[in-house]
Amino acid sequence: MEKVKFTAMKDGDREDYEFLIGHEIDYAAKTGERLLAAMVDLDKSLSGYQVTRLGHSLQAATRAWRDGADTDWVVSALLHDIGDIYAPYNHDEYAATILKPFVREQCAWVVEKHGDFQKLYYAHHVGGNPHSRDAYKGHAYYDDCATFCERWDQNSFDPDYPHEGIEFFRDQVEQVFARKAYDPAVIRAGERVELTDPTIAKERNT
Ligand SMILES: [Fe+2]
Ligand SMILES: [Fe+2]
Repeated sequence: MEKVKFTAMKDGDREDYEFLIGHEIDYAAKTGERLLAAMVDLDKSLSGYQVTRLGHSLQAATRAWRDGADTDWVVSALLHDIGDIYAPYNHDEYAATILKPFVREQCAWVVEKHGDFQKLYYAHHVGGNPHSRDAYKGHAYYDDCATFCERWDQNSFDPDYPHEGIEFFRDQVEQVFARKAYDPAVIRAGERVELTDPTIAKERNT
């Protein structure tokens, strides 16, 4: 069997759907690879900044890596703006949706809210509310999102910052997206991991 027999889903039988499940598993296994390719597309987006969105994303991920952050944080930093391609008005939610089945809840939440937290740095110049983040005051991950924006996001527009290339992050991205989706051992609802680890940072920066 090379293709299913049906042309309307309601006419499919068990053989068709079992066949498709096999295809889906193979396809899903390559999610990390496809996301890395999509990141390269980011290079064409959003002119006007001194760095491209790919450059910005690589800087953010490199800063996370050099801060001693764990894999979930590094991959989240790398992908946090991937939504800029197809969802310019809710790019944060778009990226979080991609990450949610595969990273710690803390990281997916931070990516989902980073757009609001980033407003602190610019919204007052364009008639917006720089304090949008106040809506999340008291949330368990509030400080993590503030740190994410301060240390990795708002400052990653520097054309002179020596960042790693996309290949540096390939193994970590593929490892994250090869995880079992929605695995409670990965999601660890409510659990916080610091963004920075001075001991690991020291090892990575020497
Ligand atoms: Fe963003
Ligand atoms: Fe960003």
